[in-house]
Amino acid sequence: MAMFSRFKKPGEDGPARPSPMAKVTQAVNAPLAPVSPAAAPKARVQPVAPPKPTAQAVAQDKERKRRDRLGDIKLELHKRLLDNLNLAAIESAPEASLRAEIAAIVGEALDEMSIVLNKEDRSTVNQELYDEVMGLGPLEPLLKDDSVNDILVNGPHRIFVERNGKLELTEITFKDERHLLRIIDKIVSAVGRRVDESNPYVDARLADGSRFNAMVPPVAVDGSLVSIRKFKKEKLGIPDLVRFGAFTEEMGAYLQAAVATRLNIIVSGGTGSGKTTTLNALSSFIDNSERILTIEDTAELQLQQVHVGRMESRPANVEGKGAVTQRDCLRNALRMRPDRIIVGETRGEEVIDMLQAMNTGHDGSMTTIHANSARDGVSRLENMVAMAGIEMPIKAVRSQIAAAVNLIVQASRLQDGSRRMVSITEITGMEGDVISMQEIFRYERLGMEPSGKIIGRFNATGVRSHYSDRFKQWGYNLPAEIFDAIP
Ligand SMILES: Nc1ncnc2c1ncn2[C@@H]1O[C@H](COP(=O)(O)OP(=O)(O)OP(=O)(O)O)[C@@H](O)[C@H]1O
Ligand SMILES: [Mg+2]
Repeated sequence: MAMFSRFKKPGEDGPARPSPMAKVTQAVNAPLAPVSPAAAPKARVQPVAPPKPTAQAVAQDKERKRRDRLGDIKLELHKRLLDNLNLAAIESAPEASLRAEIAAIVGEALDEMSIVLNKEDRSTVNQELYDEVMGLGPLEPLLKDDSVNDILVNGPHRIFVERNGKLELTEITFKDERHLLRIIDKIVSAVGRRVDESNPYVDARLADGSRFNAMVPPVAVDGSLVSIRKFKKEKLGIPDLVRFGAFTEEMGAYLQAAVATRLNIIVSGGTGSGKTTTLNALSSFIDNSERILTIEDTAELQLQQVHVGRMESRPANVEGKGAVTQRDCLRNALRMRPDRIIVGETRGEEVIDMLQAMNTGHDGSMTTIHANSARDGVSRLENMVAMAGIEMPIKAVRSQIAAAVNLIVQASRLQDGSRRMVSITEITGMEGDVISMQEIFRYERLGMEPSGKIIGRFNATGVRSHYSDRFKQWGYNLPAEIFDAIP
């Protein structure tokens, strides 16, 4: 083969042996490639008396056939590529030469299989093969697509994405479970972890910062499960969230006062409801002069301040050693003279240290929890304290919580996919054994459009903020009207 052989396996310069796939590929390509039409598979033969297809249906059918054909060709080319490329040398290869090498191998293989592709198809195939060798294969275009928030793989043939808060099934698939496993393995081994029958699930961070979780068979029953939360370089800020209708300008002004005057804030919400996004946006109200320490399981927060120390917890390695928990980080953080501590998500024993930090001079600390309402959030905190093995009467636990937490902001993803701050609730103290709270703002649902879009509005509850005086003392004079309820 006449190509620069740096990335080629040594000693394989002879003509590539025709693989058994070549035949199949040609047969599948019958309608387009120079092979007898009789070889076309039955499924592609038109029914005897088809209803007159519309122009659109014909175009769709053509497109589908084109995709099927490309898919088959790609499979074969991919096999040949893996046979021919020296995978060890690829690691350090410059992108341009690798692309040229792939294009050359592809060109040669296509000639050999007597397949002619137009320029566009050929460049698609080259790109996909490049992604396969260098990137995450079929996932690569989804990772590059900025409109995709989450990628969810349910076994090799079902890949869903979340766009605008809604899940969609894509047409992208892996070839089979082995192909999917190979990509998972690639991601996981890049971060020095392993996933197999004895370690069937793993968390990792992709090179671009995206959060990655995989679970493999047999624990995953119908093929490996992969969840990716895409990392957004441009985080949504307060103005974006107001523009998207996540909350109003008035609520924004209130939140600014709350953050700037160092209230301790918990962002509560369900999976993917926008907790981390909200936390990140709220952090923009922190003064540039403050020293902020962030603690996360997967570093997602992107604070704009100058003085930020970021920590990421770490699971145990393959030998079961070296784990550093969020709690470890938090305890250490307290010795690092922070003005504020931000914990990405409180989900376990670190709750004790978080509450203590909030109670002992690290005002203005923030975290998120997984809960469906402010009240539910408080119960979650109580449960976490109990689970951490702290023997304390419930009343004592509650007064700790009431003293530590000032504000609970509830994030929610509504049925129509929109993400909204459905409630802002202040914790005002204890009444007997019960933590007292007052809601200041809420999202009121008024109905639903035929399209399924939810109609609603944000409203104040008419309750005056418990922290009004504090806001004033710190120079935040919020207009009284923002607390007035619209009838
Ligand atoms: N108000 C919003 N409008 C549009 N998109 C949003 C909004 N809030 C968050 N998103 C997007 O939704 C996705 C999920 O948000 P985020 O990561 O903040 O959720 P989360 O509640 O922290 O999720 P998890 O429970 O998985 O940690 C992100 O891609 C984010 O960019
Ligand atoms: Mg999150």
